[in-house]
Amino acid sequence: MAFLDVKGVRKTFRRDEKTVVAIESFDLQVEEGEFVSIVGPSGCGKSTFLHIFGGFETCDSGEMLLDGRRVSKPGPDRGMLFQEFALFPWKSVAGNIGWALDAQGMPKDKIAEVTERYLKLVGLGGFRDHYPGELSGGMKQRVALARMLAFEPRVLLMDEPFGALDAQTRELMQEELNSIWQQTRRTVLFVTHDIEEAVYLSDRVIVFTARPGRIKEQMKIDLPRPRGIEIKKSAEFMDYRNRIWDLLREEVLKAREEFR
Ligand SMILES: Nc1ncnc2c1ncn2[C@@H]1O[C@H](COP(=O)(O)OP(=O)(O)OP(=O)(O)O)[C@@H](O)[C@H]1O
Ligand SMILES: [Mg+2]
Repeated sequence: MAFLDVKGVRKTFRRDEKTVVAIESFDLQVEEGEFVSIVGPSGCGKSTFLHIFGGFETCDSGEMLLDGRRVSKPGPDRGMLFQEFALFPWKSVAGNIGWALDAQGMPKDKIAEVTERYLKLVGLGGFRDHYPGELSGGMKQRVALARMLAFEPRVLLMDEPFGALDAQTRELMQEELNSIWQQTRRTVLFVTHDIEEAVYLSDRVIVFTARPGRIKEQMKIDLPRPRGIEIKKSAEFMDYRNRIWDLLREEVLKAREEFR
């Protein structure tokens, strides 16, 4: 059995007497330690799927197993990172990371140690006493990343985490995440609209169909690891990028027809 096993998931939303099928007949198997990206047209159900897997949203049918156990509500085994920076502005960087650990009953000295370790991992060792308002967008997202990692969840669910960043910061964050993944080998489900980001980070890229979201195609990314950012210039990288872009383009056009 796969580490993450998603079988036959279907999700509908009702609005003004109309039913919108967001996800249909969705199956996915992911191995422990695998980095899987999901790309697909806007509105195809990517966020919905992550919310269901995170336990924040129910599904109409189907089942989801994490290491053989059924997933139905949020839990510390899954960490979620969203596009928006969701930090408490009134708490310091260390306070933002520590509050949830505190709520879990972790002793104060252990919290300080864990906070320090993960702040160093995301390159913000010297910022523990700063407040979110004093940080750039990239730094805020690093704090959110450190906060998620500090829980040591078995699965990281990331929904366009770098979408709000400028292109240069985004590339730095990709390198950072790549190196963190190399060190921690967590299982990751990563949603992005950036195909190069998906290819660079992933072991496998999944292309969703236009809504209702299903898997159109999966592509294993056989690029060597560890990967430096210069790999983006290689012919193999460009070939993956182009193939995924062609698959995605068909679905984006279909989705656009439907919105007309
Ligand atoms: N709470 C909700 N109530 C009603 N409809 C919803 C709700 N959440 C999502 N939907 C609908 O479900 C479909 C899938 O939405 P979802 O947010 O999962 O798409 P997405 O793939 O993440 O899109 P994007 O790439 O733009 O973030 C859309 O048609 C959306 O309008
Ligand atoms: Mg979304």
